[in-house]
Amino acid sequence: MKPLSEFINRILCADARAVLSDLPNESIDLILTDPPYGDNISYGPRKVRIPGNDHPLLALEVLHSAYRLVKRNTAAYMFCGMRHLPFVRAFFAQYTRYRLRDVLIWDKVTMGVGYGFRKQYECILALEKGRPSYRNSGMLNLLSYRKVRDGSHPHAKPLPLLKALIAHSSNQGGVVLDPFLGSGATALAAKHLGRKYIGIEVNPVYCRIAANRLRQPMLPLIRNCTEPQSHPVAIPSLAAISATPSRLQKPVW
Ligand SMILES: C[S@@+](CC[C@H](N)C(=O)[O-])C[C@H]1O[C@@H](n2cnc3c(N)ncnc32)[C@H](O)[C@@H]1O
Repeated sequence: MKPLSEFINRILCADARAVLSDLPNESIDLILTDPPYGDNISYGPRKVRIPGNDHPLLALEVLHSAYRLVKRNTAAYMFCGMRHLPFVRAFFAQYTRYRLRDVLIWDKVTMGVGYGFRKQYECILALEKGRPSYRNSGMLNLLSYRKVRDGSHPHAKPLPLLKALIAHSSNQGGVVLDPFLGSGATALAAKHLGRKYIGIEVNPVYCRIAANRLRQPMLPLIRNCTEPQSHPVAIPSLAAISATPSRLQKPVW
């Protein structure tokens, strides 16, 4: 483990699974992250594929190990596709000590594509360690913020949405962690609000974009910055997860 100061206000170009094990216990004030959903889709006319998108277990493994890092009475927000929502909810209930406070809906205001029904929303899991305090008594679980199309990342998230979540669940000077930083939106939102940030992103192209947006150097590679290895266990169905003991046990924290 390393001192927290080595990570503060840094963009780490690395596999999140490698970095998290180096972070100290109970040092993080908020997790806000938008992981690959695991839907194995390529996006847009250029068919962009993001690393780690072949199944949802990568995100779950990272959130599972991040539980140790967050302070007591802290929130963790994770974007999630509707397709994996039942699986993801069951995973958090069975294998982690996070409590699910709510499933927020991000209404993108403009419609997307879709057969039968055009898609206009994504989910955000509002998870808790202990009992966080929330600042905005008028906060809705339906959040309407126009989708971003700035070319920085196929999944760029709107800054005002991220700022609303950060302001609702952290204080000035608090440390916001995003282990799947993409083009840096969470870190930028945190910086604008006077929070500290730790951003981890495996793809050097997105790290560079994030570093430029934040006017911050990228931390030299901690580990080889390559496509993360596929998950070491075969992807089980939820029924199989329920039936067999997993190496992912509920943490004692
Ligand atoms: C959905 S995108 C995040 C986009 C971000 N919200 C934005 O506004 O730009 C998820 C990101 O996770 C990164 N990623 C995938 N596997 C990773 C891993 N093992 N460690 C760190 N980052 C990873 C991908 O390269 C991708 O940029």
